[in-house]
Amino acid sequence: MSGPSTYTPSNGFTRWLDSRLPLLRFMNDTMVTFPTPRNLNVWYTFGGILTFCLAVQIVTGVVLAMHFTPTAAGAFDSVENIMRDVNYGWLIRYVHANGASMFFLAVYIHMFRGLYYGSYKAPREVLWILGVIIYLLMMATAFFGYVLPWGQMSFWGATVITNLFSSLDQVVPHMGTAIAHWLWGGFAVGDPTLNRFFSLHYLLPFVIAAVVGLHIWALHVPGNNNPLGIDVKGPQDTLPFHPYYTVKDAFYMVLFAMLFAVLVFYAPNFVGNPDNYTPANPLATPAHIVPEWYLLPYYAMLRAVPQKLLGVLVLFGAIATLVFIPWLDTSKVRSLRYRPMLKPFFWVLFFDCILLGYLGSQEPQATTNVFGLELSDLLLARIGAIYYYAFFWICLPVIGLIEKPKPLPQSIAQAVLGSHAAAAAE
Ligand code: HEM
Repeated sequence: MSGPSTYTPSNGFTRWLDSRLPLLRFMNDTMVTFPTPRNLNVWYTFGGILTFCLAVQIVTGVVLAMHFTPTAAGAFDSVENIMRDVNYGWLIRYVHANGASMFFLAVYIHMFRGLYYGSYKAPREVLWILGVIIYLLMMATAFFGYVLPWGQMSFWGATVITNLFSSLDQVVPHMGTAIAHWLWGGFAVGDPTLNRFFSLHYLLPFVIAAVVGLHIWALHVPGNNNPLGIDVKGPQDTLPFHPYYTVKDAFYMVLFAMLFAVLVFYAPNFVGNPDNYTPANPLATPAHIVPEWYLLPYYAMLRAVPQKLLGVLVLFGAIATLVFIPWLDTSKVRSLRYRPMLKPFFWVLFFDCILLGYLGSQEPQATTNVFGLELSDLLLARIGAIYYYAFFWICLPVIGLIEKPKPLPQSIAQAVLGSHAAAAAE
């Protein structure tokens, strides 16, 4: 779809550079003239917003690292020093900490958009799988980052999650404990753990940036999918990326940045946990250990299973399932706009993930009042986890086979402009 290059160097220098390193040609073909479906809506601006989030996290993170001390004795105080004494340290830290939440908010919108419009289907399977790899790397990076301020939740969160590996003792005796000790660099979460987590937390965003490069490359080979889920048939269906989508992406990026600013300036601790303002204490376990909001659905699934190893498998299986979606979906039609049978199941999945997130934030023995009925959260989490799996492993393959899709439009141009204008545009 990207087609032959349309770039012509305009002066002596660009001609000289073009025959040595065609960087400007590459930029022109990918960000200026790139033919983009003319019907992309607001949900398609989140790829650009995510790139913005990644840049913000890297820039603020590098500055924070200049003032951070990665030792158990110094980490908490160095963060307090950033907050109180470093010039604008409070701003840089709050942008970074809330930036992680905004990043996940954007990635969840981006992923549900992909699910809704069937963007994972052929020929975009590799693009989707690279996305899943990015998502995994994001979760690892966020987890390592959360340990760094060395508050109570940092310490106990790291302890709970790394201890999951000890469940492997049930497969080979002592193996899981040995792995946990190896990860910690000792017999508990401590100085060596903090040091290596800092090293990895610094490294992974650059790995993410590299995988994003591949993700965008894999996008540019088949070109964008679009809300109709039909293929581009010719130039009448597309617009050049610049100025149409540069302007649209920039507009929504500004709106997103405004929401981000509201969080940073008016509610900077809204998504944080107050326990993390207490220095880590290996001798005092907090009453209620919870991860950050974006990991809560998985935490709910983990706790829904009474047996530890099985719980860990359910947790990792939920993420691994995402890789298989392109092959689990048997429908020939991409967009849910034309899939009346699957659509309600998609929305149930959406609210199921929110429900699981809520349940993950509650005490393990809590109950929730559902239409006057007092139900145990454990039961709800089990139903939620079963639905999550059932959607991907049963609904996607079965509904794809039995559903009668609505008729698809002839072309993007016809759907957007009407038949007369589409004919004129050809
Ligand atoms: C740092 C994180 C990410 C960045 C910077 C990023 C960037 C982008 C960009 C710039 C686009 C094109 C514009 C758009 O469609 O919004 C895109 C498209 C896409 N991304 Fe991502 N992405 C990220 C994470 C993910 C994840 C986690 C997934 C899924 C698991 C994913 C799946 C997709 C798919 C399927 C498309 C094609 C959408 C379509 O054409 O309909 N991305 N991404």
